[in-house]
Amino acid sequence: MTEFMQKLSELRVCPVVVLDDAGDAVPLARALASGGLPMAEVTFRTDAAAESIRRIKAECPEVTVGAGTVLDREQCMRAIEAGAGFIVSPAFSDEVAQCAIGHGIPYCPGTCTPTDITNALRYNLPMVKFFPAAAYGGLSTIKALSAVFPGLFFMPTGGVNAENVRDYLAFDKVICVGGTWVCGKKLVKEKNWTEITRLCREACELTH
Ligand code: 3PG
Repeated sequence: MTEFMQKLSELRVCPVVVLDDAGDAVPLARALASGGLPMAEVTFRTDAAAESIRRIKAECPEVTVGAGTVLDREQCMRAIEAGAGFIVSPAFSDEVAQCAIGHGIPYCPGTCTPTDITNALRYNLPMVKFFPAAAYGGLSTIKALSAVFPGLFFMPTGGVNAENVRDYLAFDKVICVGGTWVCGKKLVKEKNWTEITRLCREACELTH
């Protein structure tokens, strides 16, 4: 198991972060870490993503920071230059795979069909994101996929929350889950770091 996967399997939840203001990056990362989840997948859905990664990397060495919603080579390069320690994308992408792997950075592509997974396996990837998990059948689909790809680990993301997280993690091929529920946009906008820490703690209690 790679070092990145080891970390995911210990934490069990990868917080997916959407930041409009890079000024919120460090307080948010600290709130996640205080709640027991020292990891952040900072999504490239906003212009603040690269700068947010740079700040978390510089000021929160205890937090494993990576990039999410990485769609192409250009974003992947920006994420790596900012210091991203892992790359996640919503779909499988050859150019992102080549860029991340070429730089020695773990890549976790979004997949939801056997075709997607077959594409990912051309790069010998040990794990994939299953996205959007709830909309594509949740755990029963992961189990069906796992039957034909027995060596592969999954990170379901999309619709995972405190109510269903334990169901996903009970399946041994689910290495961890991803989700925004511990650090939703509204809480970030309100700078409600205390509530984010509380939600992370609750997630840790549910999953350990
Ligand atoms: C993602 O970016 O991976 C998903 O949008 C997260 O989905 P969620 O908001 O349902 O957790």
